[in-house]
Amino acid sequence: MKLGVIGSPIEHSRSPEIHYGFAAQFDLDISFKKYQVEKNECIDWVKNFFNNDGFGLSVTLPLKEVVLEAADEISERALQSRAANMLHLKGDKIFADCTDGIGLVSDLKNNKLEIKNKNILIIGAGGASRGILPSLLNEEPKQIIVANRTPERSVKLVSEIQETSGLQMKSSILIPSGLNLEGLDSGIFDLVLNATSVSTSKEQVFDIDKAIFNNASVALDLYYSQSDTLFMKMAKASQVSTVLDGWGMLVHQAAASFSQWSGHQPKTEEALESRRD
Ligand code: ATR
Repeated sequence: MKLGVIGSPIEHSRSPEIHYGFAAQFDLDISFKKYQVEKNECIDWVKNFFNNDGFGLSVTLPLKEVVLEAADEISERALQSRAANMLHLKGDKIFADCTDGIGLVSDLKNNKLEIKNKNILIIGAGGASRGILPSLLNEEPKQIIVANRTPERSVKLVSEIQETSGLQMKSSILIPSGLNLEGLDSGIFDLVLNATSVSTSKEQVFDIDKAIFNNASVALDLYYSQSDTLFMKMAKASQVSTVLDGWGMLVHQAAASFSQWSGHQPKTEEALESRRD
């Protein structure tokens, strides 16, 4: 089974080792390579991959939105997110799905962390934020504030999600904001998520008020790294009791993708434990 992960940059991706570990559980023979693919070549590249024995692809930044244009069929949740993180050849059709949201929800549940009736702050309104919103909303949080440095982007994202989600949600559940959280009480969040690209940059500069962590019990950076990101350090300095990075989410979204490609649901414990290998 010819699989792979595409994105840019891609050299640090740990997806191959996760998927080889899953395949070993079922004695499956797979090849899983990393491919550096830029936005402007993405659609042709993807079509070419599937025309040449390719069977499945994981998709990472910055390609999660553009890959939809290469797909023949798009899942409901990828349509809601307007983003995909996996592609799968079904017959002769390229199918796109977004397993990021269920990856995050599975990770939170695995850590015994509640979403239902919680106040959630998501910082960032790019592809990462898009991918997780529909799944989080399905878990019936009390409220989700999407705060972005460029407020127009969070306004746009929220209205698109409301338009396409079909969740009939009241506008008071999903609210856009700037980073200054103007007019909002900043100390009310149970769960604070970093969905910006700040943690991927060398010099992490983050203009957020640490008051957002005041009553938070959980802070999670969607990015995974060997050492604490600036966001994680800020959360720890503010005494947030559970501070996580995106490793668990990465493993769980990979498991959800792998099960669609192979028809086998892999166990995740070993991959979860190997985060600092
Ligand atoms: P991705 O697909 O990773 O979400 P993206 O679409 O480029 O990538 O979005 C990056 C997100 O990180 C955006 O929400 C961006 O804010 P802007 O929309 O204002 O650009 C956010 N971001 C990047 N650098 C940031 C910084 N230093 N402080 C705050 N937010 C930042």
